[in-house]
Amino acid sequence: MRMVDLIKKKRDGQALDKQEIEYIIDGYTNGDIPDYQMAAFNMAVYFSGMNDRETTDLTIAMAKSGKMADLSAINGIKVDKHSTGGVADTTTLVLAPLVAACGAPVAKMAGRGLGHTGGTLDKLESIPGMRVSLSMDEFINNVNTIGLAIIGQTEDLAPADKKLYALRDVTATVDAIPLIASSIMSKKLAGGADAIVLDVKVGEGAFMKDYDDAVKLAELMVNIGENAGKRTVAAITDMNQPLGLAIGNSLEVIEACETLKGRGCKDLLDVCLFLGSHMLMLAGMAASGGQAVSMLEDALKSGRGFAKLKEMVAAQGGNCEALEDYSLLPQAKIKHEIKAERDLYLSRLHAEQLGLCAMRLGAGRATKDDAIDLSAGIMLNKKAGEFVRKDEIIATVYANDEQRLNGVLPDILNSIETSEDFIERPKLIYSLLSKHGIERFSLFTNVDR
Ligand code: URA
Ligand code: CA
Repeated sequence: MRMVDLIKKKRDGQALDKQEIEYIIDGYTNGDIPDYQMAAFNMAVYFSGMNDRETTDLTIAMAKSGKMADLSAINGIKVDKHSTGGVADTTTLVLAPLVAACGAPVAKMAGRGLGHTGGTLDKLESIPGMRVSLSMDEFINNVNTIGLAIIGQTEDLAPADKKLYALRDVTATVDAIPLIASSIMSKKLAGGADAIVLDVKVGEGAFMKDYDDAVKLAELMVNIGENAGKRTVAAITDMNQPLGLAIGNSLEVIEACETLKGRGCKDLLDVCLFLGSHMLMLAGMAASGGQAVSMLEDALKSGRGFAKLKEMVAAQGGNCEALEDYSLLPQAKIKHEIKAERDLYLSRLHAEQLGLCAMRLGAGRATKDDAIDLSAGIMLNKKAGEFVRKDEIIATVYANDEQRLNGVLPDILNSIETSEDFIERPKLIYSLLSKHGIERFSLFTNVDR
């Protein structure tokens, strides 16, 4: 087999067979196929696409490029949750403890933020002492004793994806649906969970800007998961505005704690209850969505969810006191309040722009080796659709460098659109895809707090 022939075959719109796909992934992973050929191949996929069978073969070849995690020593059905990437997506920190408090084991391998999107690992690392790289034995042992552990992806998890993703990032081939689906699902299959709940974000702050594309991506990932023998469902949720109120690492830890203490923002909680209910159903812990939601609400109201988060943090070396006394978390020197100049409605809070602004304040990375300022970010006080009175705070910006703050501030103000007139609240949850097809929802952002 020659790579040049396979590039040509894909360029001309033909489907590749399983052996050809394995040849490409094996060759690229071990260095026999150079970046320039792989880049040309990715571009051919970008324009010619792949059918579902090819994408499944690609996913499995990538999953097998490293070590497949063996979580069979964990008791019970392990359900993983994965978000395709968003702004201020604090769900894992809220959802994982709630689901674990309901008795379903949560063994989560999380990622770091890149660009305008945040990552759970960076958020967790704002808790003093917190360790996110545990040995496999410690990880499994913690899940068996506490019911919950969150760690970074191991080095040898789907190495083909690591290499490919870095290449796609610099060759304008990230946003090809077969490549996104295989990238995400290869890591999920290699991660060893029994079932998978996907949160496909749609909107201007997400990879998928368009609803129909989000449905295509969700359908494809559900098919890949089911074909690999894992029950898989995918929710499609809104990412036009940030989820919840906090954007930034320690700010999102505070937000997760407040939510688990029953004082959080309703939209973040609603998405957590929705995704969590599907995790409990796939784990065999609940027979219906209604039953699952009441179990989660009970875990929330009783404080068992918050207690579970503290247990996990303690087991991974973190200082639990910081979850009660937030002054123990990294603190920003400057807190700049943005106030309403007159009575108005907030019409849009542009997610991607706000995410980029938070990144420039230091909350995220422009390139993967950048250091992060864990205390920097933006705390919204209001969401799109809310009425704001003159002099009320719309948002507080957290920064450590006056010059940086002044550079970013005009763009933050530009990301916040206002209106004189009543604005309809934006949608929050659009639909759920499973092997049974698509179920549509019309859940709107509820701004009551
Ligand atoms: N997240 C991933 O892991 N891979 C992609 O290609 C896009 C989002
Ligand atoms: Ca948030």
